[in-house]
Amino acid sequence: MPLVVFVAEVNRQVAGFIEVGLRSHADGCDRRQPVGFVEGWYVEPEHQRRGVGRALIGAAEDWARSQGCTEIASDTWIDNEPSQRAHEALSFEVVDRRVHYRKALR
Ligand SMILES: CC(C)(COP(=O)(O)OP(=O)(O)OC[C@H]1O[C@@H](n2cnc3c(N)ncnc32)[C@H](O)[C@@H]1OP(=O)(O)O)[C@@H](O)C(=O)NCCC(=O)NCCS
Repeated sequence: MPLVVFVAEVNRQVAGFIEVGLRSHADGCDRRQPVGFVEGWYVEPEHQRRGVGRALIGAAEDWARSQGCTEIASDTWIDNEPSQRAHEALSFEVVDRRVHYRKALR
């Protein structure tokens, strides 16, 4: 499956990046076709809240469209409130929440 990284520059300095690839399916998406998936998304703290993250998501969406996708998906940690707010501001919908378990084997 293809995967690309887009880098955002401000004054010729790297300010952030987004890693977007194709997944065969993603929770909440149409399982009959591959979906774009945001594997990583980061903006340096001094450049946050200035539209850099929005521009990176826009680039990821354009790339996913160019791959024939009609949907793009992402995920984040349950305690990462800023990321959740940013996803929602960019029109991502919550489709699932999970509990992860572990058990030591003796
Ligand atoms: C999530 C992240 C990439 C957003 O980047 P950013 O450059 O700050 O985002 P933007 O400035 O383009 O904001 C995009 C939208 O999200 C909203 N937003 C961003 N951060 C927010 C916050 N902390 N609280 C509320 N809304 C927020 C903005 O208001 C904006 O919406 P608007 O245009 O309607 O006002 C950045 O906060 C980050 O790198 N966080 C640390 C790493 C991380 O959590 N990555 C995501 C893991 S999946």
